[in-house]
Amino acid sequence: MNKLRDTKFDQRLLFARAYEDEVGKKIDKNLRPSFHLTPYIGWTNDPNGFSFYNGVYHLFYQYNPYSLCWDSMHWGHAISKDMLKWEYLPAALAPDEAYDADGVFSGSSIALPDGKQLLMYTGVKKEGGVHGSEFQTQCIAIGDGLNYTKYKNNPVLDQSVLPSGFSKKDFRDPKIFKDEDGIYRCVVGTRDENKNGHILTFSSADCFTWKYEGVLVSNDGRLGCMWECPDLFPLDGQWVLLCSPQDMLPSGLEYHNGNGTLCLIGELNNNKNSFTYTHDQSIDYGIDFYAAQTTLAPDGRRIMIGWMQNWDTCKISDDYDLPWFGQMTLPREISIKNGRLYQAPVRELNAYRTDSYEYKNILVTKEEQKLYGVEGRVLDMTVTIRQAEKKPRYQKFRIRFAQNEKYWTDLIFTPEEEVLQIDRKFSGSRRAFIHQRRCHAKEVNGELKLRIILDRYSAEVFVNDGEKTITITLMTEQNAKGISFYANGEALIDVEKHSLEEKETK
Ligand code: FRU
Repeated sequence: MNKLRDTKFDQRLLFARAYEDEVGKKIDKNLRPSFHLTPYIGWTNDPNGFSFYNGVYHLFYQYNPYSLCWDSMHWGHAISKDMLKWEYLPAALAPDEAYDADGVFSGSSIALPDGKQLLMYTGVKKEGGVHGSEFQTQCIAIGDGLNYTKYKNNPVLDQSVLPSGFSKKDFRDPKIFKDEDGIYRCVVGTRDENKNGHILTFSSADCFTWKYEGVLVSNDGRLGCMWECPDLFPLDGQWVLLCSPQDMLPSGLEYHNGNGTLCLIGELNNNKNSFTYTHDQSIDYGIDFYAAQTTLAPDGRRIMIGWMQNWDTCKISDDYDLPWFGQMTLPREISIKNGRLYQAPVRELNAYRTDSYEYKNILVTKEEQKLYGVEGRVLDMTVTIRQAEKKPRYQKFRIRFAQNEKYWTDLIFTPEEEVLQIDRKFSGSRRAFIHQRRCHAKEVNGELKLRIILDRYSAEVFVNDGEKTITITLMTEQNAKGISFYANGEALIDVEKHSLEEKETK
C-alpha cells in the first residue's frame, strides 16, 4: 500500500508527522548506528540543508517515511549540538504543492538576515503519466527551525532560465551560499542533450529573485553523465566544487563504474560565473558514499557529510530486518593539502572515546594475531604499519574486522603495488552487488596509517591522515566483533584503539 497516495494532498506533511510519531518513536535505539544519522523511519538518501542555525546543526535528508525504498520524497529533519548525537524533529517538507507533488528533492539551507531559515530545494512535477514529461524546478520554504512554509511565488527558478539544450527533467539540487560581497549564489546540476553534466550558477540579492549567471563548469565527457548535488565553496585559498556524477566509466583506480563522487579544485573567474580546475579526484574510494554536502561550522571549519550508500547497492533483500534504510557518513572536516582534498572525522568524536588500548611495535606474521582489548563494532582505531627490520618483507598486510567464525571484512595493503583493498565479500551479504574496491595507497616515510571507524553498520577508513577515505556499509551480525592482523612476511604495527561510547537516541 502506498500510504502517501491514500492521503489528501494538503495533509501530506501532517500525515507524515503523525506516522513518524506513531511508528518512528517505537524504534529501539540499538537497531540504529550510534553516531551515524539514519532516517527516523523508512528510507533516506541524500543529506540536505546541512547548516548551523540558531545554535545547533541542522541536517535534513531525502526521506520516504512509508517504506524502505525510494519513493515520494519528503525532507526529514534532525538537529545536533555536535553533529554526532542527533535529535529527530518532525518531517520538514512534504510533496504537497502542484509544483512539487512528485517529490521534494535535494537542496540546501541558509539563515536569512531576519533570523528565518530558508530551505531551497528541487520541486518535481510529472505530467502526462508514464510516457509524459517531468519538470524539475527550484523552490523555497521559510521557517523557524521546526516548521516551514513554502514560498507563495514558487518555483523561483524554472526551465525558462535554462539555456537551450539543457534538460528540464534533470535540473536539480540547488546549493546556496552567501558570498563575501553579500551576494547570494547558488549552484544547480543539469545535463545537456548528450547527457553531459553541467553546473549552472545563479545570483540573488535576497534569495527570492534569482538571476542566471552562466555555466560554471562542464563535464568534458570524461566524468560520467548528469552531475548531481553540486557544492561550491572556498577552502584553504582555493575554490572547491563537489558533485556526484551518474553513470561513470572507470579510470585507473581513481574512478569506478556507476555513480561516483567528484572533487574539483581550482579557481573562479572575477565574475564568479566560471570555474577552472587544475585537479580532480574521487571524494571517497569505498563503495558507499554519494551526494556529499558541506557547511561551515561557527569556528570556521568546513564540514562535509555524505549519503553512506550507493544507488547500485541499495537493493533490499527480503531478509533485511532493520526498520530504516540509508545512513549518513560521519561528518568530516575537510582541507586541501598537497593539492588534494583531505578528510578527518569531526574532532567532536574524540569526546566519546573510552576503553582505550595502545600497542607499539607489535610483530605481525603469518599467524593471525589478535590483541587484548582490540575488538568491537563501535570504535575508533588507528593502525600504523611498517616493515620489520628482519626479513622476509611482507608483500601483503591484512586487517580483518567485524569478524566471527562465519563472517569478516578485510582491508588488504600490498606495498609493492601500492594498493589498498576493501573486501566485504564475507560480511554476510547475500546480494550480488559489488563487495570489493581498490585504491592507490602509498607508505609515507615507510609507514601506512589507517584510521578505521566502525559504527555497527559501517566502516570508514581514513588513509594516511585523511589523504583518502574508504567508506562501506556493513550488515554483518553485531556479535561479529573480532579484529585480527596478518602479514605474509614480517610487519610491525602500532595500534591505538578507543571504543566509542554508546549514546541515547531520541
Ligand atoms: C541524488 C539524487 C538527487 C535528487 C535526489 C532525489 O542521490 O538523485 O539528484 O535530488 O537524489 O531523491
